[in-house]
Amino acid sequence: MPNTNRPLALYVHVPFCKAKCTYCDFYSLAGAEDNIPAFAEALLQEIDAASKQHDLNSFFIDTIFFGGGTPNLLDPDTLAAILDALRTLTQMGEDVEIGLEVNPGEVTLERLKAYRNMGFNRVSIGMQSFQPKLLTFMSRIHSPEDAISAYIMARKAGFTNVSGDLIFAVPGQTRQIWESDLKQLIDLGPEHISTYSLTVEEGTALKRWVDAGHVHMLEESIDTGMYDVGRDLLERHGYVNYEVSNYSRPGYRCRHNLNYWTGVDYLGFGPSAHSFFQGKRWWNPRHLQSYITGMVERGDCDPEIETIDAGTAANEMILTRLRLAQGLDLDIFESRFGINLLDEKAPTLEKWSQELSVQQGHLRVTPAGWSLIDEISADLMTVNA
Ligand SMILES: C[S@@+](CC[C@H](N)C(=O)[O-])C[C@H]1O[C@@H](n2cnc3c(N)ncnc32)[C@H](O)[C@@H]1O
Ligand code: SF4
Repeated sequence: MPNTNRPLALYVHVPFCKAKCTYCDFYSLAGAEDNIPAFAEALLQEIDAASKQHDLNSFFIDTIFFGGGTPNLLDPDTLAAILDALRTLTQMGEDVEIGLEVNPGEVTLERLKAYRNMGFNRVSIGMQSFQPKLLTFMSRIHSPEDAISAYIMARKAGFTNVSGDLIFAVPGQTRQIWESDLKQLIDLGPEHISTYSLTVEEGTALKRWVDAGHVHMLEESIDTGMYDVGRDLLERHGYVNYEVSNYSRPGYRCRHNLNYWTGVDYLGFGPSAHSFFQGKRWWNPRHLQSYITGMVERGDCDPEIETIDAGTAANEMILTRLRLAQGLDLDIFESRFGINLLDEKAPTLEKWSQELSVQQGHLRVTPAGWSLIDEISADLMTVNA
């Protein structure tokens, strides 16, 4: 019988890393693993508080994702206790996706087996590159061989849904090197591949190096060329580009991320985690100690709350749906916001006529436009809803 309840996605942010990568502004602390027990306790408090605060009876848990940071720094017992607590929030979906991110060189076969046994059925491995020099530049603390062995161990542990992350447009990387990285990952044969263009984020070492002129980022045209090369290569090997940065074998799209991008309600736990639930968004402090103290002493970590107005919701719908191959359903958009986007944005559609197409009632970005998606989305947004 089909489940008539609504899907819910759950996210746990694990804010610990062995070392901080040059480019990363995700909230994580290096060398702070002594705080893991207190963090886990606070997390259990937060999950318990959520069960009392929200009426989740009309939902089923569709996906769960542990990201970070580095979730594999949590020992299996801790991870199992957190997972069990999440499972009590409401009923589980029949084919729930339960995934986690792991870092090569830090995860063992024993741990992967334990994760599989406790119910994880998807693992995403942060490989980033198979070039020792590029890994060093990015301050990754693993070797290319570690990435390969993490993949082999994930298979041995019984994971049949494995993803690998790679980064391109890294200073020093050529198109040939990028192709070789991709080919090595394709040869391993994961079900899913994410490719991210290296971005310079505030507060990172990379930002300081670029500002000081020590590092020069690749020109935008080279970045775009690498994106196109990657897309062609992956598609030729049977990976479908279902979202700008994500490719999968049929049936293996990341359902958790799709839930974010298609407006499914989600609850996030842990410092810096975001939630989007019943039209409201909130996010926890990006500060481990405030998070722990708040949860343990008051049962509340003082998240910042935003009620999403119609204009913001419309813009977000454009932004997220355009990143998906399936595109933006124009009828749904009009029924929700009362805006006929084709009329409202006719000049923009004219401007991007090579990069946008309308097919079966969906506004889609064409292959020529994927690498320009941020500019295109920005032009289409700013809707007065
Ligand atoms: C934040 S990490 C968390 C998972 C894990 N710790 C890892 O390093 O793979 C998730 C993904 O975001 C990517 N990422 C983080 N910052 C980035 C940036 N500035 N540019 C491109 N990719 C980035 C990481 O390399 C990784 O593939
Ligand atoms: S990329 Fe991953 S390992 Fe590196 S600092 Fe960010 S979260 Fe940690």
